[in-house]
Amino acid sequence: MSLAIDFCGIRFPDPFTLAASPATGTGEMVERAFDQGWTSAVLKTAAVEREDVKLVYPMIAGLDHEDKRLFGMENIDLISDRKLKDWETDIARLRKRHPGCIVISSMMASSKEDWQEAARRLEGAGAHLIECSFSCPHGMPERGMGAAIGQDPDLTERTATWVREAVKIPVVIKLTPNVTDIVLIARAVKRAGCAGVCAINTVKGLIGVDVETLRPIPSVAGYSTYGGYSGAAVKPVALKCVAEIAKGVETEISGVGGVYTWRDAVEFLAVGARNVQLCTAVMMWGYRIIEDLKEGLEFYIEGKGFASPADIVGRALPYITTHESLSRDHKPVAEIDPSKCLKDDLCHIACRDGGHQAIEVGEDRVPRVDAEKCVGCGLCTCVCPVKGCIALKERK
Ligand SMILES: Cc1cc2nc3c(=O)[nH]c(=O)nc-3n(C[C@H](O)[C@H](O)[C@H](O)COP(=O)(O)O)c2cc1C
Repeated sequence: MSLAIDFCGIRFPDPFTLAASPATGTGEMVERAFDQGWTSAVLKTAAVEREDVKLVYPMIAGLDHEDKRLFGMENIDLISDRKLKDWETDIARLRKRHPGCIVISSMMASSKEDWQEAARRLEGAGAHLIECSFSCPHGMPERGMGAAIGQDPDLTERTATWVREAVKIPVVIKLTPNVTDIVLIARAVKRAGCAGVCAINTVKGLIGVDVETLRPIPSVAGYSTYGGYSGAAVKPVALKCVAEIAKGVETEISGVGGVYTWRDAVEFLAVGARNVQLCTAVMMWGYRIIEDLKEGLEFYIEGKGFASPADIVGRALPYITTHESLSRDHKPVAEIDPSKCLKDDLCHIACRDGGHQAIEVGEDRVPRVDAEKCVGCGLCTCVCPVKGCIALKERK
């Protein structure tokens, strides 16, 4: 079956795209990714030669959670320090050697002339689509770049218009989640006449402090700065942004943030994305994950009786509503399957100290739910290590 889906007027062979990142840092890397099954990539953000980009090292730090390493990642990377002319050469080569693949150029600039020059040159080199980063949380605000644009609807509309006017290929604007209302920014992109948006870039954060030295990390000669947080931890933020844009603006959306598996991708499609990008998962597990992504999505689509990924797009949206319109008559109750219970007391402890004291443990250590006290909050279903052992059921 085909996983092809249209995004911004271009037929993508499948919805998975490598996001602008170190994983797309050179044409040679993207060629390797294409050889391993990726069919589209956003090249690392580039700028005209006038922008002198000086990177800092280390630029990456990870957030571990209990025994899970790299639950989240923070970077203080900037855009590519390669020359635009080198990217032009790479794009031309990618187009020639991988004619079936989609090459998206990401760019950033600090003046109208530079935005337009870069866009024209990238189009001239053969890019199928241009993605403009209005969204790096730490990258060069002193030059009016990055999130400095994407946090302001007027600057967004003005800058997006410059780029859209300069080229014939579709233009997508990559948005920052670090705003009060992302829909206002997406509307500005729409007013500028761009083909779509990409949501989200990284979430601005401070990933940690080394408790031995009491210095923030990543430590660049003893100092650090706020950076861009990505990976599994940001998926809920990204899904929310995509859903809000899909419900609030008629535009095409590429969803990105915390996608690791085909299941994550299905969620992004279900909240309105037509394309799904991956960065941190690839930096962690390598290009090879594309095999599982494509196979898993194919299997899912067939199993559900859908014809293509487009059938999933927006399916969850009608069910996202306001808090006030949620039913107050729905009163579920927790039910424990004793045959699956590990007798580890976790549900009892959580319910006792974080819930409604509705789970008691008897001498046999099997937890029992007091339906009178249980409000069906759902906490026990989340803390139980055995999936499916505790479920919320309709009250009899
Ligand atoms: C080290 C690193 C470098 C990145 N560089 C860029 C970049 O040059 N341009 C850009 O638009 N986004 C950049 N991003 C953001 C990613 O493309 C992506 O939007 C973000 O990491 C969220 O997706 P993820 O959770 O799959 O990583 C970078 C992310 C990381 C981790």
